[in-house]
Amino acid sequence: MSQLYVSTHPLMHHKVTKLRDQSTESRKFRDLVREITILLAYEATNDLGLESVSVQTPLTTTQGFRLQDRIGLVPILRAGLGMVNGIWELMPQAEVWHIGLYRDERTLKPVEYYNKLPVAPTVQVVLILDPMLATGGSATATVDILKRWGAERIKFMGIIGAPEGVAVLQDAHPDVDIYLAALDEHLTPEPTKPGDPPAGFIVPGLGDAGDRQFGTA
Ligand code: PRP
Repeated sequence: MSQLYVSTHPLMHHKVTKLRDQSTESRKFRDLVREITILLAYEATNDLGLESVSVQTPLTTTQGFRLQDRIGLVPILRAGLGMVNGIWELMPQAEVWHIGLYRDERTLKPVEYYNKLPVAPTVQVVLILDPMLATGGSATATVDILKRWGAERIKFMGIIGAPEGVAVLQDAHPDVDIYLAALDEHLTPEPTKPGDPPAGFIVPGLGDAGDRQFGTA
């Protein structure tokens, strides 16, 4: 079974709470997504390979390290886009390969609409970026795509996840570790009366991360 990492850091709790707040406007929401991604990336990259290099300091020559693995970021459009800049601040050389999926509102199944991956993998480690792990369909479909591409080391980075989505992704891909800023309670069920929220939304959640980042709510 894959590793599930859920942050317990006070800064993360503070920022996720601001993200959930319905009064947080788009500009602040985007800032928080970037900051939370930086904090999460610190954990998600803790096993990256290093190679030795020598470095000339102002005083002497010493041995140091540089990252060995080529890193690929795969933001799931649209909402994953906002997480890219956070990781680029830490690893500006990371390649970005976009995957376009949207969740069909009726079936909740992912529908692929954009994929320009090159013929063969160009990176050793792939970080999938999507703020929301709800039913797990989009994340699972993205790992399917990346494995068919030939990616060997894949991790999923999200901001909030539902237990249902975590279970689906872990069942389908037990080799893909999951990093979340918060693990939420459950998904909304099928509505039974007017005014109920649609099915498949994370509770307590933060609404729709794509709409809130891009001001399209
Ligand atoms: C949201 C979210 C995930 C997906 C999660 O995207 O960003 O990609 O739903 O749901 P799942 O785990 O049930 O598959 P959405 O379809 O709203 O598209 P958007 O990012 O373009 O708004």
